[in-house]
Amino acid sequence: MHKIFTNTLFIGKKLKFLPSCHSTNTIASEMVMSGEATNGHIVITDFQEKGRGQRGNRWESEPSQNLLFSIILDAAFLDPSECFYLNIITSLALIDVLNEYTGDQMKVKWPNDIYYENKKVSGMLIENFIKKNSIGYSIIGIGLNVNQEKFANEIATSLALICHQKFDKQDLLEYILIRLEQRFLALKKSQLSDLKSEYFHNMYWKDEIHVFKDKDGLFNGRIVGVEDGGKILLELEEGYRLYDFKQIEFIK
Ligand code: BTN
Repeated sequence: MHKIFTNTLFIGKKLKFLPSCHSTNTIASEMVMSGEATNGHIVITDFQEKGRGQRGNRWESEPSQNLLFSIILDAAFLDPSECFYLNIITSLALIDVLNEYTGDQMKVKWPNDIYYENKKVSGMLIENFIKKNSIGYSIIGIGLNVNQEKFANEIATSLALICHQKFDKQDLLEYILIRLEQRFLALKKSQLSDLKSEYFHNMYWKDEIHVFKDKDGLFNGRIVGVEDGGKILLELEEGYRLYDFKQIEFIK
């Protein structure tokens, strides 16, 4: 897996393939700090010894079965208050591609897990380098379960399990990069409200009443919106409440 991508303008023109590494996000951060990084540079591996997930979790993946990569993007045009739009465009790019195989069934579980029915097929870890009052480079780390068939975590699934066929990881990666580049360019043209409404349209549990948990316990609520900064807006019996990352859990 070390082909340079020809059908994109800048994403994937430079690529670092490592048969194994601790974490592609960590390698990408080191490249930014050493000045080696360029816009669109990709770090990809077949195996991570210390794959990092959100909330300090580990990202586990069998060797060579899945896509594990990090894209370095120059997001200096974004105000730091808009950095959630990087989650939005990455989620939409993954949904665009995966829906081609699953018929519009993919959803984004806020803030950025990609779900098929009640199972997670992909996760992302986005890390921004803030310099002065703008984002410098941003690292978009993506783990997509492609061909793995057994998972220790019962919430996890893969594209192969969903579609009952194996996939060519290189082709899939290329489609994702093409869609991500298109979404990134739309963001650069400030198409913020269109991107946000498309993200909302694709949200898991949107407009349905479900059980959530916050610091005070369980409650029923309905997801009715997402703020520009990424907070989620829920409608409860007694009114509306906004939640930031880590302040709320989805229960059932
Ligand atoms: C999550 O859902 O918890 C986020 C998972 C992100 C995993 C990817 S795999 C490639 C990149 N390198 C990492 O260490 N993490 C991300």
